[in-house]
Amino acid sequence: MGKIIGFVSVKGGVGKTTVALEVASSLANDFDKRVLLVDANFSSPNIHLYLDFTKPEFTLHDALLGIGLHNAIREQYGFDFVPASLTYSHDIDFFRLKKVLSKFKRRYDFIILDSAPNYQELIPVVAACDSIFVVTTPDDVTLTTSMKAARLSRRKGTPIDGMVVNKIRNPRYELNLKDIEKFSEIPVVAMIPDHKKVTESVYYKTPISIFNKGNRVSKEIRKFAGALSGIPEKIGFLGWLKGIGQERVNRELMRKNFYSPQL
Ligand SMILES: Nc1ncnc2c1ncn2[C@@H]1O[C@H](COP(=O)(O)OP(=O)(O)O)[C@@H](O)[C@H]1O
Ligand SMILES: [Mg+2]
Repeated sequence: MGKIIGFVSVKGGVGKTTVALEVASSLANDFDKRVLLVDANFSSPNIHLYLDFTKPEFTLHDALLGIGLHNAIREQYGFDFVPASLTYSHDIDFFRLKKVLSKFKRRYDFIILDSAPNYQELIPVVAACDSIFVVTTPDDVTLTTSMKAARLSRRKGTPIDGMVVNKIRNPRYELNLKDIEKFSEIPVVAMIPDHKKVTESVYYKTPISIFNKGNRVSKEIRKFAGALSGIPEKIGFLGWLKGIGQERVNRELMRKNFYSPQL
């Protein structure tokens, strides 16, 4: 039975779409998982722009209005994808999302949801998820804003399995792993650098985890996707040596929580 995972924040530009897309791609291509990526940014969807999609015939919005979700599923880069409508005008009950997606949990190992940076829109997304990852950048303003999404998840009773810190630029002037964990009380599960190769991958409409596997962004995404796949992380002697004096992300705790029987 698959799990529905949401990448959330109430701030735009932190990397929710990038992380959702890259994790979907890595789970499918590096770990052989069956993945459905869903654009649950209802008002301004944009994953299709990161991929190479023409105007879809059916979308998530159609599925929420009662047309079978299978009609909206497209395949690219080894995973399935459901686009959302750019021009919907009907009244839609977005709380149907959970029901619409749960029928597909047998078909996929992971259903990954991208989301809007809008609090109201986030509520049905959080309600549909089995697990939430909060995405933030390492600065006070963004972290404080991102905590709104974390509080919403806590209130809805959706487990928060970790914090993804993205776009790390200049650690000297940014919050470090310990600061973020202390403030948020959420374990940091990925520390992703800001990297110019991401811009290149957007230009070529290809996930960076495929476009440039050796990149530091791809490597961190792959470690995170590995933990989601249940594979314990191996840190060899060289890795351990390299890591002396550096902050270490503890993905092991997340991996264990994620696969604990109560979930
Ligand atoms: N780690 C990264 N390094 C460099 N650029 C990034 C990184 N993550 C995201 N970006 C860029 O930042 C912009 C916003 O990312 P996006 O994923 O759309 O954010 P959100 O979905 O939170 O609004 C995009 O141009 C994206 O390519
Ligand atoms: Mg986005």
